[in-house]
Amino acid sequence: MILNKITTEKGEYVVLRSLEKNDIKRAKEFAAYLNSLIKEKDFICFKKPVTTQWEKNALRDWLKNQRKRTMIPIIAEYNGKIIGIADVRKRMGVMDHITVMGISVRKGYRNMGIGSALIEECIKTARQKKAKILRLEVFSTNKRAITFYKKYGFKKVAEIPHQIQRRGKLISEFVMLKYL
Ligand SMILES: CC(C)(COP(=O)(O)OP(=O)(O)OC[C@H]1O[C@@H](n2cnc3c(N)ncnc32)[C@H](O)[C@@H]1OP(=O)(O)O)[C@@H](O)C(=O)NCCC(=O)NCCS
Repeated sequence: MILNKITTEKGEYVVLRSLEKNDIKRAKEFAAYLNSLIKEKDFICFKKPVTTQWEKNALRDWLKNQRKRTMIPIIAEYNGKIIGIADVRKRMGVMDHITVMGISVRKGYRNMGIGSALIEECIKTARQKKAKILRLEVFSTNKRAITFYKKYGFKKVAEIPHQIQRRGKLISEFVMLKYL
């Protein structure tokens, strides 16, 4: 399902859409996208690249959760190429007023407004789900993302020390919240 269509400042036409069954056939492409982020080493938990089979299973899980509406994946595509992915997940039980989100844009396509379109879609989705709080976690060293999240009204509420192994050191993770 198409969620939104945007035109970047440079005139590129980007589609935001839900995950589709056909995406499982594109697991290799999705794995390559994730592996490009893993290679950057700066903002993602994975240590090693993922395989196409791993990605296939992950996409199947995502589709199942999308059907159950417990997770909403948002795919940004430009000319048929995956250039960004975000997801919104509702917590359960006594935490079901909270939605957790994640976001990434492919290197080479950043600072063009695609992250903004994705985060606006996440905020809209969280509001539609009647969530009161949108929550995310970010590496304390990820200044670019922290600035980006602050621009969208997120505030740092906690710092968890020694949470992440990064380049031979243990660094903190920040928890940021946006009240909806
Ligand atoms: C964070 C991220 C999603 C933003 O996506 P994007 O498509 O570049 O975002 P936009 O073009 O819509 O907005 C760019 C904003 O990022 C921030 N930003 C970009 N470069 C920055 C820098 N060098 N220093 C500080 N902030 C910066 C600014 O807030 C900027 O907004 P502005 O142009 O109004 O100043 C993207 O940089 C990314 O995918 N990074 C790698 C993955 C990642 O860190 N994900 C978050 C994990 S928690």
